[in-house]
Amino acid sequence: MKVVRVLFGLFCILSLIHAVRIEAQTLSEVEREHPDISTLITLVNSTLSTQLSALAAANRTITVFAPDNTAFESLPANVTARLHTNETLLRDVLLYHIVPGNLSAHFLLGEGVILVKTLFDNETLMLNATRTTIYVEGTRKVIVPDVFFDLGVIHIINGVLIPPSLHGAVLYGTS
Ligand SMILES: *[C@@H]1O[C@H](CO)[C@@H](O)[C@H](O)[C@H]1NC(C)=O
Ligand SMILES: *[C@@H]1O[C@H](CO)[C@@H](O)[C@H](O)[C@H]1NC(C)=O
Ligand SMILES: *[C@@H]1O[C@H](CO)[C@@H](O)[C@H](O)[C@H]1NC(C)=O
Ligand SMILES: *[C@@H]1O[C@H](CO)[C@@H](O)[C@H](O)[C@H]1NC(C)=O
Ligand SMILES: *[C@@H]1O[C@H](CO)[C@@H](O)[C@H](O)[C@H]1NC(C)=O
Ligand SMILES: *[C@@H]1O[C@H](CO)[C@@H](O)[C@H](O)[C@H]1NC(C)=O
Ligand SMILES: *[C@@H]1O[C@H](CO)[C@@H](O)[C@H](O)[C@H]1NC(C)=O
Repeated sequence: MKVVRVLFGLFCILSLIHAVRIEAQTLSEVEREHPDISTLITLVNSTLSTQLSALAAANRTITVFAPDNTAFESLPANVTARLHTNETLLRDVLLYHIVPGNLSAHFLLGEGVILVKTLFDNETLMLNATRTTIYVEGTRKVIVPDVFFDLGVIHIINGVLIPPSLHGAVLYGTS
């Protein structure tokens, strides 16, 4: 009887692991669990759907550094206006928040300074992964790591990242 119970317990645990593995959450599910990144998710969903479908079709994984809603709200109004009126600019800025591969925090922590190529023209993002914290481009940092979803992993960060090559275009409207 005891053996049966143990085996049944083991079976339940294994089924659970299996279910979790095959039912990786979609962006909509992530948004329900993490409403603090709804702005980023809505922008990615409306602007990068073609890219995301292509990645999924090719079985490629990604790591998204996702600014929280407060980060988007703290952008100057003229910057927000530019991102909303220039779809190319918005797409490029969003792609700068995404790097290839499923880089969970466990994989990064303690690795020190790492330069990673983003999906925006391979423009580099500098990560500084101490043993406890992952800094992105110096001053931003990961505030919630390891939100797994069907395409890989999302790390929530506390600031919007601007690709150096687009500083003028984003901050001053000059190219
Ligand atoms: C993404 O956009 C589609 C329509 O293009 C919509 O049906 C879906 O709810 C959106 N998902 C999220 C998470 O915003
Ligand atoms: C993606 O993975 C699925 C299931 O593992 C496989 O059937 C499919 O051929 C893969 N597609 C590509 C483009 O590798
Ligand atoms: C839109 O942004 C791109 C950079 O992504 C820039 O080259 C272009 O000049 C901008 N277009 C307008 C109308 O500002
Ligand atoms: C990005 O780098 C990859 C591999 O190094 C290369 O194949 C690809 O052409 C590069 N893309 C751009 C836009 O530079
Ligand atoms: C990385 O972070 C550590 C700890 O905050 C800091 O001492 C170091 O200067 C940082 N390195 C770079 C290149 O920013
Ligand atoms: C990403 O990595 C985690 C473990 O670090 C794993 O559980 C998850 O299945 C991976 N996701 C994908 C889409 O490969
Ligand atoms: C954008 O707005 C900020 C204040 O929020 C202001 O300091 C800056 O001069 C403005 N820049 C442009 C190019 O309009």
